[in-house]
Amino acid sequence: PIVSDAIRTMPKAELHLHIEGTLEAELAYELAERNAIELPFAGLEDLKQRYHFTSLQSFLDLYYQLMSVLRTADDFRDLVLAYMAKANRAGVVRSEIFFDPQVHIANGIDLDTVLDGLLSGMVLARERYGISSGLIPCIVRDMPVESALETIEALAPRADELLGLGLDSAEVGYPPEDFKDVFQRAGDLGLRLVAHAGEEGPASYVRQALDDLHVERVDHGIHSVEDKDLIELLKHRQIPLTCCPLSNLKLQVVSDLGELPLRRLMAGGVPVTINSDDPAYFGGYIDDNFDALSQIGFTLPELASMAENSLNAAFVDDAERRTML
Ligand code: ADE
Ligand code: ZN
Repeated sequence: PIVSDAIRTMPKAELHLHIEGTLEAELAYELAERNAIELPFAGLEDLKQRYHFTSLQSFLDLYYQLMSVLRTADDFRDLVLAYMAKANRAGVVRSEIFFDPQVHIANGIDLDTVLDGLLSGMVLARERYGISSGLIPCIVRDMPVESALETIEALAPRADELLGLGLDSAEVGYPPEDFKDVFQRAGDLGLRLVAHAGEEGPASYVRQALDDLHVERVDHGIHSVEDKDLIELLKHRQIPLTCCPLSNLKLQVVSDLGELPLRRLMAGGVPVTINSDDPAYFGGYIDDNFDALSQIGFTLPELASMAENSLNAAFVDDAERRTML
């Protein structure tokens, strides 16, 4: 238990975390009641029975459905605070937080409401826990490209309050190259660029994310292992992968954590980091992900090097990085 505590609490940055994916079933019901929303389930227990997924899409269906309980700035603030309390206990000193603006806008919520709520939670988390954080809106890739272009323009006036731009949602059939113009614009706005690629999709999508979108990190990226030259490129450019073991297990990307190519990628010189993705849905926060790897034989030095990779891969300046060590 001492080693386990050391692993759970070593300082780390969380670089792949969807804030809507931290919405626990209990909080979803609380917010539904607060906002007088009728959820289409028989109750909390019925909802909890539905947390079994067979693919990314089977998860996304429930995830987008539950997001409808988020209506006010207070809802978004409370969601951030609930997550940050758990992140603090897991040794997180820096969190770069994804959210899906297009889905909230489609639900009739103003972008300013979403941003004001999330940012106020982040300010409070810095005061309460000393956790530094940044916001990365993600383009929902299975919505039309025109919607993505409208979204980046809607975000533009508040670009200085954002850290970056990401790309998420259903992957296969929605290649990164389709979003070249959106990412070009985001780069021009001074945003840092990341994209989900190689989660369910092929190594060629990881290559497109690098070549066409000019991303600095790849979210998931585990299918990079299918392409030797790509591994060489990731090593050469020192592109971090934000891997999410419990997510890959729960979405049946792998049938066993031992199948994940984490060691092969690390041996190839690729900076691998460990993250929780959507912890309320996948059975654990970032400390549970580290613990799960420890239980299948990852050593303390291996886990410590992945935690160190996360601090190095965070989008912070050197002065701030020193305060995180
Ligand atoms: N949105 C939330 N979690 C996601 C994931 N793991 N992959 C793609 N889109 C997501
Ligand atoms: Zn994700």
